[in-house]
Amino acid sequence: GNSTINAGLLAAILKDSKQLPEMFIESDQNHRPSLESASLEDPDLDIPVLDLSFLAAGNSTQRAEVVAAAAKACQTWGFFQIQNHGIDQKLIVQCEEEAHRMFQLPLDVKERCHRAPGATFGYGANTWINQKVMHWAESFHMQLNPTSNIREMASKLFPEGSSSQQFSSVVEEYMIAVENLASQVLEILTEGLGLEPSCFSQYLRRERMTSMRFNFYPPCPEPSLAIGLRAHTDPHLLTILHQDSVPGLQVQMGDKWITVKPRPDCFVVNIGDLFQILSNTRYKSVLHRAIVNSESRRLSLACFLNPPLNSTVVAPPELITPECPQVYRPFTWLEYLKNAYLYHPTAGNERHERFFLKTM
Ligand code: SIN
Ligand code: FE2
Repeated sequence: GNSTINAGLLAAILKDSKQLPEMFIESDQNHRPSLESASLEDPDLDIPVLDLSFLAAGNSTQRAEVVAAAAKACQTWGFFQIQNHGIDQKLIVQCEEEAHRMFQLPLDVKERCHRAPGATFGYGANTWINQKVMHWAESFHMQLNPTSNIREMASKLFPEGSSSQQFSSVVEEYMIAVENLASQVLEILTEGLGLEPSCFSQYLRRERMTSMRFNFYPPCPEPSLAIGLRAHTDPHLLTILHQDSVPGLQVQMGDKWITVKPRPDCFVVNIGDLFQILSNTRYKSVLHRAIVNSESRRLSLACFLNPPLNSTVVAPPELITPECPQVYRPFTWLEYLKNAYLYHPTAGNERHERFFLKTM
């Protein structure tokens, strides 16, 4: 069954093989990491870095500048980085340490938290339904609300009470801090659309669904044939990602893949499908992927901001104009997850057209 596939796949990654096992070889050239990826040193090809120190200092001139720059970044890149975001660097490092501690556990221990395909939490291979080529990665999904499953999973992973306690308290503190930051970023981006900053606060009510995925990419024997995470758009409202100092995240810009420069003091923010839909396509949910390398392991922590499962997602009337008519029909987040995401994760705009284009 699926559990066997998961374990087999992960064992292959973990076994430290000198050759890339068949199931990881990407035959589709479009999904192979190209070697002529953009240089990290070209400043024109670096996604914008925005300084959020005004969140603490309350400087309204600086806020207006950031609102404008963030909106511009979301209209073009769909991505930007934030520095001076107010989250203690120590907490970030602690969370990375806990993630490493978890990934270093023996496979059979991690498999106690096995994640079935499509399930929203657990440890496993990060695969999508119908996907043939396997990602060169291990992943661990958690959910913070409406009910947290972090403690329950921690106690399965770390039978010793203090160790389990440490994992869940660090991870929960990290997620709460990032969720709080994400809601502030959501307000900045909402203001950037010319709306009241609180216009989308209904999507963050108590039943909101904040989740997180730890991504661990071990060194890969043949990185040019494998992929850490295939090109996809995020289905969520907003993603707040922390990457360590090893490059790997790439964003599509025209026909190029741009490497997002690792900045451990920053978070990478990106627009998900739901925000593209809410903004009536002013903001872009952009294809991105993770490539792997033969030298260094890489860790990223991705936090996803989602509305409650049953809330209706629809662009507000202010964004529907004669020049920009309504693009998507209203639907619920649950409907989107079930119909579009799990089956067509890499289809990007194609899946929007297929399921959610407004039919007038
Ligand atoms: C992701 O798209 O969630 C992961 C990207 C990364 O590992 O940087
Ligand atoms: Fe993603």
